[in-house]
Amino acid sequence: MEKLPTQLAERFASIFTKEEMSDLETVFSLESRPVSFRLNTLISTPEEVEEGLSKASITYSKLDFPLNSYVIDEGFIESDIWKRRVYKDGHIYMQWISSQIPVSLFTGESPMRILDACAAPGGKTSQLSALYPDAEIIAFEPFKVRYDKMQHNLKKLWCKNVTAYNDQICNLKNYIKEEWYFDMILVDAPCSSEWSLSLHNEKFLEAWDISHVRKNYKRQKFIIWDVLPYLKDGWEFIYTTCTLAPEENEWVAHYVICNHPEMQLQQITLPESEYIIQSPALKSFGKYIYKTEISKKCIRVTPSKYSEWFFMAKFVKQETVD
Ligand SMILES: C[S@@+](CC[C@H](N)C(=O)[O-])C[C@H]1O[C@@H](n2cnc3c(N)ncnc32)[C@H](O)[C@@H]1O
Repeated sequence: MEKLPTQLAERFASIFTKEEMSDLETVFSLESRPVSFRLNTLISTPEEVEEGLSKASITYSKLDFPLNSYVIDEGFIESDIWKRRVYKDGHIYMQWISSQIPVSLFTGESPMRILDACAAPGGKTSQLSALYPDAEIIAFEPFKVRYDKMQHNLKKLWCKNVTAYNDQICNLKNYIKEEWYFDMILVDAPCSSEWSLSLHNEKFLEAWDISHVRKNYKRQKFIIWDVLPYLKDGWEFIYTTCTLAPEENEWVAHYVICNHPEMQLQQITLPESEYIIQSPALKSFGKYIYKTEISKKCIRVTPSKYSEWFFMAKFVKQETVD
C-alpha cells in the first residue's frame, strides 16, 4: 500500500504535527528493522554471547539501556541469529528494544511475588524471571497455542521461578491462596497492536477498524479491575500496550486515576538514547481531555528505525493508614 487508509491517516493527523507525520511515514515505509535481542542472564553472560556472535562474524551494538539489550547491525536478519547456538540454547531472547522497557520500570527491591497478567509468548515474563530470580512469578495466558509457546520459551530460557496458568486473568481469584498478594503487577495488555503498522502490511491496514480499539479498551479496563485488588500496598503496577490508540493508553490511565484513588501515577523518565524516541503522553484526544498528570508522567515510545510503539504508565498503590 502506498499510503495509510483514510480512517487511520485522519486519526494520526489529529495527534501528530505535519513534521512528525512525515517522520512516521518514513518509518511506516521501512521494509524491516535491525534485529534486537535481550541477553538471558539466567544462564549466560555478555562474554559468552558476544563470543558466540563474533565467531559467526555477526556485528552488533550493546545498549546502555535497557539492561542486557543488543542490536544487531543492519544487513543481518533474524534467521541469521536463529542458526546460532546462543539462540538455540536460550542464551538470548529475540525482543524489540521498546518491549524490554516496561519491566525495567519496576524499582522495588526484593519482591516476593510478581504477577504477569497477560503473559504469552513470555518475553516480559522471562525478563522478570531473570531480573528477579528469587521472586515467585505467576503468569496468565488464556489462549492455548500462545500458552504452549510461552511454556516452550520459559523452559528454553531456564525460567524456573515461573508458574504459568492457561486461563483468563478474570479467574485469578480461583488460584489465589490466602497469602497471595503481589509486590509487582504487569499488565502488558491485549491491544489493537498498531506496532505492526507498516505500509507493507496490507492485511493489518485493511483489517484496521475503530471497533477493535473500542473492544480492546473495554477489556483492558476489566483486566485492570481484576488485578488491582491483589497488589500489596506500597508496591508497583505497570500498564503498557504496543498500540498508538489513545483510547487504549491515556484513556485507560485516566480511568485508573479516576476509579482507583489508591493508585498514584509515577513519573517515568527514560535515559536519552539514539535507539529510543520517546515522547510525552497526550493531553487530549478528540473531545476527551485527560488528567493533567498523564502527559507529564507517562511515556510513549514513538516508532523509529530501531523501536516500535509502546505506551507505559506506572502506578504505586498508596499505603493504607489505619
Ligand atoms: C501484548 S500480548 C503479551 C505479550 C507478552 N507480555 C510478552 O512480552 O511476550 C497480550 C496477551 O494477553 C493475552 N490475553 C488476552 N485476553 C486476556 C485475558 N483476559 N487475560 C489474560 N491474558 C489475556 C493475549 O492472548 C496475549 O497473549
